[in-house]
Amino acid sequence: MNRRDFLSTSSKAACVCALGTAGVFLSNCSGATEPSSLIDTTGVELDFDLSSADFLPLQNDGGSVVTDENEIDASGLLLLRTGENIKAFTRSCTHQGIQLNAFSNGISVCAFGHGAQFNSNGEAISAPATGSLKSYDTELNGDLLTVFGG
Ligand code: FES
Repeated sequence: MNRRDFLSTSSKAACVCALGTAGVFLSNCSGATEPSSLIDTTGVELDFDLSSADFLPLQNDGGSVVTDENEIDASGLLLLRTGENIKAFTRSCTHQGIQLNAFSNGISVCAFGHGAQFNSNGEAISAPATGSLKSYDTELNGDLLTVFGG
């Protein structure tokens, strides 16, 4: 088995585990974590079944959910539906790495940090955060969302 096959297989296995415990992986931003590590996740991909109850907000334009930590991002993912696409960002605030809430009306708030806000492009729009959130490539095939590490 070459490296690519191994990564593909292990990622899919991790995804199955993640989907099986979606209730555990999804959170309501009740805690804070350290900033995302700089681990190279290139080649890692996670699949999410958007037909599952936890991801139903992503069926509608502007809908958003967050996940807990995973193989791609130690802070979890901030997902946002924009038309026919799903954007994926880290949940790690650019200020001090506290987890961001899901988008509401196109704004994600660092409610458990210091109140910074980010727009739907992942750009900080209020202090004390600056810069942009790390984003990840995504692919949407029907109800299957794939997020690619990097
Ligand atoms: S950690 Fe997000 S505003 Fe400070």
